[in-house]
Amino acid sequence: VRVMRMPRERTYIMVKPDGVQRGLVGEIIKRFEQRGFKLVAMKMKAASPELLQQHYADLSSKPFFPGLIAYVGSGPVVCMVWEGTDVVKTGRKMLGETKPLESNPGTIRGDYCIDVGRNIIHGSDSVDSANKEINLWFTPEEICEWRSMEEPWVY
Ligand code: TYD
Repeated sequence: VRVMRMPRERTYIMVKPDGVQRGLVGEIIKRFEQRGFKLVAMKMKAASPELLQQHYADLSSKPFFPGLIAYVGSGPVVCMVWEGTDVVKTGRKMLGETKPLESNPGTIRGDYCIDVGRNIIHGSDSVDSANKEINLWFTPEEICEWRSMEEPWVY
């Protein structure tokens, strides 16, 4: 019996240029897949300064802003949309804290980086910003609705 369900929560996850260059894309995808989340969009992109300024608009007055834009624009990033129950908050837990020093081992930042200015991954911090970021980085056609035969056993 098919039951109409509410659309599942989505988050925007982006492997930053250092994560790409260090070969961590597969590891990051693996962690989200194995946790039980569903990948519904993915692409590699060399982001323009304009796009990055929009993405990080909330931080435009911070002293680290110009360096942040230069760093995330320094090479291609891998952009993803992941879907599933509480994916925004769970994704943030999986990432660790903004500062690698405060990120526990077992988290992505806690396992793979040491510098806040090279913290390998981005993840939306709220459902609201997730929706904004997904709209900024992806067109609706780039997001794939698909159903696993294993549902509802695999969320
Ligand atoms: P922020 O949105 O506060 O963190 P998060 O990525 O965990 O959501 O900041 C965005 C990015 O800005 C952060 O990932 C790394 C960079 N940044 C610095 O370079 N120096 C800093 O002091 C902070 C707070 C952030």
